[in-house]
Amino acid sequence: LRTQVAIIGAGPAGLLLSHLLGNAGVESVVVESRSQEYVAGRIRAGILEQSTVDLLRSAGLADRLSREGDQHRGIHLQWPHERHHLDFVDLTGRSVWVYGQTEVQKDLVAARTAAGQQVHYEVADTALHDLETDHPSVTFTDAEGRPRRVAADVVVGCDGSFGPSRAAVPDAVRRTWDRTYPYSWLGILADVAPSTDELIYAWHPDGFAMHSMRSSSVSRLYLQVPNGTDVATWSDDRIWDALATRLGHGQDGWELTPGPVTEKSVLPMRSYVQTPMRHGRLFLAGDAAHTVPPTGAKGLNLAVADVGLLAPALIDLLRKDDPRLADAYSETALRRVWRCTHFSWWMTTMLHTSGDPFDEQLQLSQLRWVTSSQAGATGLAENYAGLPIGF
Ligand code: FAD
Ligand code: DHB
Repeated sequence: LRTQVAIIGAGPAGLLLSHLLGNAGVESVVVESRSQEYVAGRIRAGILEQSTVDLLRSAGLADRLSREGDQHRGIHLQWPHERHHLDFVDLTGRSVWVYGQTEVQKDLVAARTAAGQQVHYEVADTALHDLETDHPSVTFTDAEGRPRRVAADVVVGCDGSFGPSRAAVPDAVRRTWDRTYPYSWLGILADVAPSTDELIYAWHPDGFAMHSMRSSSVSRLYLQVPNGTDVATWSDDRIWDALATRLGHGQDGWELTPGPVTEKSVLPMRSYVQTPMRHGRLFLAGDAAHTVPPTGAKGLNLAVADVGLLAPALIDLLRKDDPRLADAYSETALRRVWRCTHFSWWMTTMLHTSGDPFDEQLQLSQLRWVTSSQAGATGLAENYAGLPIGF
């Protein structure tokens, strides 16, 4: 096979990149180790920030998002006996949308299928070659067991935290930063109307809890749990009881309505950044270059922002032989990556309890400041609703 851009990974980063390149007449081939159904079914992110929605709209990918997505003005932040609403629209003029990653993925698959995009699903043994030359390639074993090679001008690693691309940057060149946290999230999806109009982020002495949603009939909720928690030790009743306590059921007349749990899993939390995001003819985008803990909903949005920078850079490089944006890609993208890395770390450490009484007082003081000071609230809102692409 021969193409201009070989893309590894058909998650949101990989498919969006192939779409933006395709819109500008640049060809790509995408390889993906999982099946199309598996990738589309993964329950992950749920919140799109303003710049993500703007980019999807300008790429012609937002018809269903405009009809079915739920625009939110802000979030509720709370601790025992106090709930405060932060209105991002009033504070910054920007808002966020509830629209699941599963839906973004379906829209991307539909758009790429309509455009005749080549995506090789269920491949094995993906390997990257000759990245420091002008004839890089990707080899893999296809779904029928045949060895294949894609020769390309450029290879883009959109293969998430566990793919081979990040390790294809030589050790002498790459630098990594890593932070693990002493807690995980237990997440559930439930067939019940959300008990709140907008998301609730709750600090509680028992641990963080969050009430999110996917639609007017599907709720998504999370509980802070210790690392290594076995999901089998959390019955549905135990989960709903802990959510009711931490989210403040019964306070000021607010009630949490439980319902049938349709999905339950434990997610570890990590911050990770690898630099540079470009080495020779290899570019990294999305989780392949960085991971953020989920608090603050940055993971998917950051992947989209990387692609929003990378697509025009590759279009200039391959169509006009102009390397300026491609040469600047890593440095430009990393400004936003570190901003989101800081914001996600800050939201995580402000809201999760670690058992240290001094930390608890600092957290509560920070929460009071963020919810009572215009400057504090605006800082959170600006980061949550997302800085403009190219920040
Ligand atoms: P991915 O979506 O990970 O896509 C990478 C793709 O590469 C995958 O399809 C993978 O199968 C493929 N791949 C891997 N290895 C190979 C290989 N060797 N060959 C070919 N293909 C390969 N973010 C939020 O904002 N909110 C959330 O609530 C949230 N929850 C999450 C829950 C989980 C369990 C995880 C893992 C992530 C979550 N995230 C969340 C983060 C968000 O989903 C990611 O940031 C987003 O998916 C990044 O998109 P991506 O395309 O860069 O990577
Ligand atoms: C969701 C996940 C997040 O990490 C977050 O901050 C908000 C919402 C969600 O899955 O809906």
